[in-house]
Amino acid sequence: MSNKERFYVTTPIYYPSDRLHIGHALTTTMADTLARYNRLQGKEVWFLTGSDEHGQKIQRKAEDAGLTPIEYVDKIVATFQHLWEQLDIQYDDFIRTSEDRHKEVVQYIFKKIYDKGDIYKSEYEGWYCTPCETFWAQRQLGEEKVCPDCSRPVELLKEESYFFKMGKYAHRLLEFIENNPEFIQPVTRKNEMVNFIKQGLEDLCVSRTTFKWGIPVPIDERHVIYVWFDALTNYISALGYSKENDELFQKFWPSAIHLVGKDIVRFHTIIWPIILMAADIPLPKKVFGHGWLLVGGGKMSKSKGNVVDPLVLVDKYGSDAIRYFLLREMPYGSDGYYSEEVLIERINTDLANDFGNLLSRSTAMINKFCGGSVPIPGKLEAIDEELKKMALELPDKVDKFLDKIQFNGALEEIWKIINRANKYIDETAPWALAKGEDTGERLSTVLYTLIEVIRFVTILIKPFMPKTPDKVWDQLGISDKKEIQTWDSLGQWGLMPAATRINRGEALFPRLDKEEMLQASQAAESTASQPVEERKIEIQPEISIEDFMKVDLRVAEVLEAQKVEKADKLLKLKLKVGNEERTVVAGIAKYYEPEKLVGKKVAFVANLKPAKLRGIMSQGMVLAASDDDGLALLIPDKDMASGSKIK
Ligand code: ME8
Ligand code: MG
Repeated sequence: MSNKERFYVTTPIYYPSDRLHIGHALTTTMADTLARYNRLQGKEVWFLTGSDEHGQKIQRKAEDAGLTPIEYVDKIVATFQHLWEQLDIQYDDFIRTSEDRHKEVVQYIFKKIYDKGDIYKSEYEGWYCTPCETFWAQRQLGEEKVCPDCSRPVELLKEESYFFKMGKYAHRLLEFIENNPEFIQPVTRKNEMVNFIKQGLEDLCVSRTTFKWGIPVPIDERHVIYVWFDALTNYISALGYSKENDELFQKFWPSAIHLVGKDIVRFHTIIWPIILMAADIPLPKKVFGHGWLLVGGGKMSKSKGNVVDPLVLVDKYGSDAIRYFLLREMPYGSDGYYSEEVLIERINTDLANDFGNLLSRSTAMINKFCGGSVPIPGKLEAIDEELKKMALELPDKVDKFLDKIQFNGALEEIWKIINRANKYIDETAPWALAKGEDTGERLSTVLYTLIEVIRFVTILIKPFMPKTPDKVWDQLGISDKKEIQTWDSLGQWGLMPAATRINRGEALFPRLDKEEMLQASQAAESTASQPVEERKIEIQPEISIEDFMKVDLRVAEVLEAQKVEKADKLLKLKLKVGNEERTVVAGIAKYYEPEKLVGKKVAFVANLKPAKLRGIMSQGMVLAASDDDGLALLIPDKDMASGSKIK
């Protein structure tokens, strides 16, 4: 079968700067699920992930750790690969941007665009956000000089650089986006990008000279290539683009789907397509930007002994449960919330109660009423037909959702039939049928119907939860009957062989004691004191106490908090400062849930000149600390009256 349908899916390549957190696990689990699903359907699949190893940020992290960059990244990349193994991530290739096979392609493309005249040398003077590795123009920054994406401080750069004529391609890109409505998904992100492009694209700085850790510019070795230009190219360097053997590129590139978080959609739908256009390479099929996974009331961060380390979670709850949670809990295209409580509830309700019990009740009844063998079904009645119909229609429903990259929708469909089957047990009451005087045909039909429903469901959950199906097949006694575990076998009802001996086993997902689990996490958190990294910092020029006293710092109470429409990073806060009320716009939406802020006391600059942000007059500023992991509000150590002076 040489003309099989093909499917190429990618995750972003992650920076080996921090430990991975559950947000990274989200994108990778999504990509893995799509890859597994398409393999199940018999498509030829290629799933790529990797690591983004160059740039100023990594070089600094390595210096701080007293290592060479490559020593530093080698160590961290090994932890990535270990995590992916623990999460059952089945990638076909892992690309590291420090590999020669990648560097050669980046240099090839840079040179190709340079030769064409779309890259030229000049001087860059402007701002740079090192955590995001992003250039910003003066006009894009507010008075606070923080990154519009992540709210962390930016640095001033002035250096000789190569520039890429992006603006030249803006029109072609807009046309492409218009003619390919599926290219940027979901549609809200598409609209954001179209607006962004319409505001005009400036030439992009694509090289740096003030540090060394990168791919040299092929025509000028004093420069290294801008890390995003380098990184984005991974999606085709890994396929062997421009190499003598580019079979993978030819085969898979036309079907490419990039899964990315919403914060990097801009790089993937503007910079990347324009690099491709300039290099005469076709564009990928789709870029899907998912929302962020937020941690209830606080920031998502690497260490500080927190339990949002996916490895800790996998160890405690199992990879299938974590994968299920991530895929079930993220609403389509918008943000989702992580909390251990919700995770435990999902495990107890959906996995232990709904699915686990369906299997456990069904196998228990086969043991009790049928001597442990799957019975021969009789004629189906209306209620059995209803379940059969649901089962036969399920693959198509799941398919529609996964085609739109809506994991939660697909899982909801699967859980509808699980719940219907549980209700069916209550309605048909097999225990009463077992007492009856008839031939047992009705009882056999009911129990057979249940097992067949379980077979359908088990096949379809495998891409989401790869470990669980084998346990189910074992309990149903059909581990070796691979032919009835396939996608094709979903086309036919009644393939479960009657007379199969079942092996009723342990609960698939034992019910968890919530309090016990949460307490265990708290105990682990308090013993895991992590070493604090020492960062080099630059202190601002000295000021006098009089200078400082000009800043009127106060304690303020949050009365109301809400998201600012169409601004992912911003919250609008209503604050009480003594007897005054103030409205303030703060760039903390990525780190705080609005509901959880209400009632908190925060540090507040009360005499800052008001400024308009997104049409809202912001009257002052709340204080927050930020590092490479995120941001934390400054909150008094004990409760203080609102309006209290801070000095
Ligand atoms: O951006 N919830 O790498 P990165 C959901 N190297 N997704 C999250 C998240 C959260 N809380 N936090 C991060 C880079 N992510 C570049 C990519 S690709 C050519 C280069 C997601 O290590 C985020 O949205 O910062 C993004 O998709 C990925 O993790 C970024 O990881
Ligand atoms: Mg990032």
